[in-house]
Amino acid sequence: MPLLLDSPLDMHLHLREQEMLRLVAPFSAAQFAGGVVMPNLVEPVDSLARLRAYRTAITAACDPVPFTPYMTLFFREYSREELLAARDAIIGLKLYPAGITTQSEAGVSDFDRIGATVALLEELDIPLLVHGETNGFVMDREHEFLATYQWLAETFPRLRIVMEHITTAEAVALLDRFDNLAATVTLHHLMITLDDVAGGLLQPDLFCKPIAKTPRDREALCAAVFQGHPRLLFGSDSAPHPRHKKECCGCAAGVFSAPVALPMLAQLFEEADCLERLQGFVSTNACAFYRIIPPPKTVELQRKPWRVPEQYGTVRPFLAGRELRWSMPDKQEQS
Ligand code: NCD
Ligand code: ZN
Repeated sequence: MPLLLDSPLDMHLHLREQEMLRLVAPFSAAQFAGGVVMPNLVEPVDSLARLRAYRTAITAACDPVPFTPYMTLFFREYSREELLAARDAIIGLKLYPAGITTQSEAGVSDFDRIGATVALLEELDIPLLVHGETNGFVMDREHEFLATYQWLAETFPRLRIVMEHITTAEAVALLDRFDNLAATVTLHHLMITLDDVAGGLLQPDLFCKPIAKTPRDREALCAAVFQGHPRLLFGSDSAPHPRHKKECCGCAAGVFSAPVALPMLAQLFEEADCLERLQGFVSTNACAFYRIIPPPKTVELQRKPWRVPEQYGTVRPFLAGRELRWSMPDKQEQS
């Protein structure tokens, strides 16, 4: 029996530009009705003009398949006028601590200065999406940032805050203390720990920010997701880098999971005996928190095994070479 999903959404997605955009966007368009597009391009998307041009390029790269890009602006200090003008074109602002991940150099270096812009977001009811890591010890970065999440949630109680790609049991617990917090969870953080990245031979395909954590953390994420926590949203954080940027000294951070996202999620939910909760994780929860109504689009998965290719263009996908149980009808095998 096929599995039907209503308007699945990927709430955290890197689509890049130019050739890479044209290579990767069709995978998301095939599987999702829409996605939240990250603004960390080489030149960050921090103006309405750049945002509109980027949106047009994304739609062209998906054509003729319908896909709604929910656009984000790169966080900086914005005026009220700028935010008012942008409000209808964006789903939120994305805040990166400066230098914490790929192409985030223009991010926030002084958190004491963000209050005015964040207050405007609260007033204008624009969600704040946050890459929540400090520049401390790599395994402690999310832990150390939780105090900032707490400060934001308490100081701006009407602001909707999304903790992006959470990786720790503690972050899951924080979610339950504040109604104005939601969190995205990636596919790979449901599947891997630091051991998979660096416990044996180093696996550049699995190196990403935030780094995968301990088995206990992974289990806490899985438990909350599979139990259907209403404020956990699927966000793949699919982040393609060409092989020569991964398999070198100074491996770029990012896991390219777009081609396998929905089939592998279906497999995980089925193995956890909760396939009926997949719809909530990939759509309903996000629609409720973000208050969006995506265009209707039914996506079908079939129970037909396929082998993930070793490479798409210049990029190696997550789970390359692995056989997956669910597939997209006659689309991906041929790429
Ligand atoms: C992302 C990228 O490559 O743009 N990399 C990653 O490791 N996740 C940026 C990000 O979301 O941190
Ligand atoms: Zn990301």
